[in-house]
Amino acid sequence: MERPPARWQSSQDAAAQWTLREFREEDLGAVLDVFQASVRQVAARDYIPEQVEAWAPVPPDEEYWRRRLVRKAVFVCETEGALAGFIAIDTRGHVDLLFVHPAHLRRGVATALLARARAWAMERGARRLTTDASVTARPFFEQAGFRVTEHRIVPLRGMMFRNFHMVMDCRDDAD
Ligand SMILES: CC(C)(COP(=O)(O)OP(=O)(O)OC[C@H]1O[C@@H](n2cnc3c(N)ncnc32)[C@H](O)[C@@H]1OP(=O)(O)O)[C@@H](O)C(=O)NCCC(=O)NCCS
Repeated sequence: MERPPARWQSSQDAAAQWTLREFREEDLGAVLDVFQASVRQVAARDYIPEQVEAWAPVPPDEEYWRRRLVRKAVFVCETEGALAGFIAIDTRGHVDLLFVHPAHLRRGVATALLARARAWAMERGARRLTTDASVTARPFFEQAGFRVTEHRIVPLRGMMFRNFHMVMDCRDDAD
C-alpha cells in the first residue's frame, strides 16, 4: 500500500481513501468492469460504435485477459473498495494498458498509476517509457511528458484503429 500523491490530498477527493497496489487475480472482474466502462463511456467519444464493439467485446474473454495480464506488472487504484483504474507495464517500460473508470476521471488516478509503473520499470532498468496511445489518451500522455513519434493505423478484431506511438525519456530524479 502507498501513500497517495499530494495532489489527491488537496483535490475534491480529499475525503476519499485511495490506495495503489499490485493487481491480484481476484481483481480481474473489477478490472474488466473498469475497462468496459472506460472504453464505452470515455473512449467512445473518439471512436465509432463498430470500433467500440471490437475494442471491448461483450462478454469479455477472461482467458485472453488472464494471459495478457500475467506477462506484465499490473497496478490498480482502489477507493473505498471499488477499482478506479489500472495500468499494465512491462520491464522494457512499455505501458500496455491504462484505463480509469468514468466516475473517477480528472482526479489524478492515471497520473498516480503512471508514476507507480514508471518507478517499477526504472527499478528494472528501463530508461524510457513507451505506449501506443488511443486518440482519447493522447492528451494525458502528452501532459505527462510523452511525445508522439509515429502515427499508426492498427487492426483489431476486424476494425482499423488510429493510435500514436509515444515515448518519454526517464531519468532518476537524482540524475
Ligand atoms: C486517459 C485516461 C487514462 C486519463 O485518466 P485520468 O485519471 O482522468 O487522468 P488524470 O486525472 O491523471 O489527468 C492528468 C492530466 O492529464 C490531462 N488530461 C487527462 N485527461 C484529459 C483529456 N481527456 N483531455 C485533455 N487533457 C487530459 C490533464 O492535463 C489532466 O490534468 P487536469 O485534470 O488538472 O487538467 C482516461 O481518460 C481514460 O481512461 N480514457 C479512456 C481509456 C483510454 O483511452 N485508455 C488509454 C488506452 S492507450
